[in-house]
Amino acid sequence: MIDQTRLPNEVVWIECRTTEEVAEAIEALRVRGAPAIGVAAGYALALAALNSSARDRDGWRSDLDRAAARLRQTRPTAVSLFRALDHVLQAADAADSVADGQRRVLAASEALAHQDRRVNEQIGLHGAALIPARAHILTHCNTGALATVEHGTALGIIRTAHRQGKQIHVWVDETRPALQGARLTAWELLAAGIPHTIIVDGLAAFLMRRGEIDLVIVGADRIAANGDVANKVGTYSLAVLARAHGLPFYVAAPLSTVDPQIERGVDIPLEERSPDEVRTIRGIPVAPAASPALNLAFDVTPAELVTAIVTEAGIARAPYNRSLAELAAAAVHEESVSRP
Ligand code: MRU
Repeated sequence: MIDQTRLPNEVVWIECRTTEEVAEAIEALRVRGAPAIGVAAGYALALAALNSSARDRDGWRSDLDRAAARLRQTRPTAVSLFRALDHVLQAADAADSVADGQRRVLAASEALAHQDRRVNEQIGLHGAALIPARAHILTHCNTGALATVEHGTALGIIRTAHRQGKQIHVWVDETRPALQGARLTAWELLAAGIPHTIIVDGLAAFLMRRGEIDLVIVGADRIAANGDVANKVGTYSLAVLARAHGLPFYVAAPLSTVDPQIERGVDIPLEERSPDEVRTIRGIPVAPAASPALNLAFDVTPAELVTAIVTEAGIARAPYNRSLAELAAAAVHEESVSRP
């Protein structure tokens, strides 16, 4: 994987050979973004499956449980992490020997990666229909190829719209404290040749006031059944601002981001990271080391501020309880029909 903490200054590929190395990479944000975290966790279980020294199936299966428990500790908010682990463990359950299990686990983690590619292309096509022929789009954090396996979700929509010949300009929120916007989204947009401008997070309101933003589009880490959206801290402020300025506020995410177990956004677990990430920028102190700092990595945007949620199965609009459940049911049906 690319070590995202080194971007944009250096493109460094790291090779993870153990579950622990992947767990560390997730915790340190070397790999980040909900879908990418999920796929990395799937492959981390595959590493556990291949590295296990257990000879019998039960011992091997216990090694997988231990590896999954470690991975579940890494980051709490993105539900794709937990879904990926459950998916791969389920594949392991069907095995009748260690060798059979290793094959099944590797195939299950590869399937997660393939599915992410497919889903993002579909999100891109559905979402691009919402983008006018000329648009100034504000986005937050990084939801691109780096945050997924390929293409991206919110940024995937922007890529698709650009590919369709639409005149797109992207306002890129720098996204303090880890600067995923300034470092990663800008790097991706530059590589794709998509016009963009980086702004400090605090400028969004005034640009909206001046009529320089047409719409906001962001990703999601977990969506409650009622449509409340957990995403990178600062997302809620943008939704409030969009409402105040009469602008559409779109969320793009795979249906697997919707957590039907969680009714409302208040119940979504939100990660709190080290205060040092706030007191420093890229390791350089910018605040008194003794001042307390709060580093909540995500916030929750209430569903009533979300204009639409773009998924691979189509576009959901309020009331989300119903529209999200309908899209999920349609997607399951399509999958069962297309499977031989
Ligand atoms: O802390 P991060 O960088 O993992 O947070 C990422 C986000 O908040 C993204 O918007 C979200 O995971 C969707 S990525 C397609």
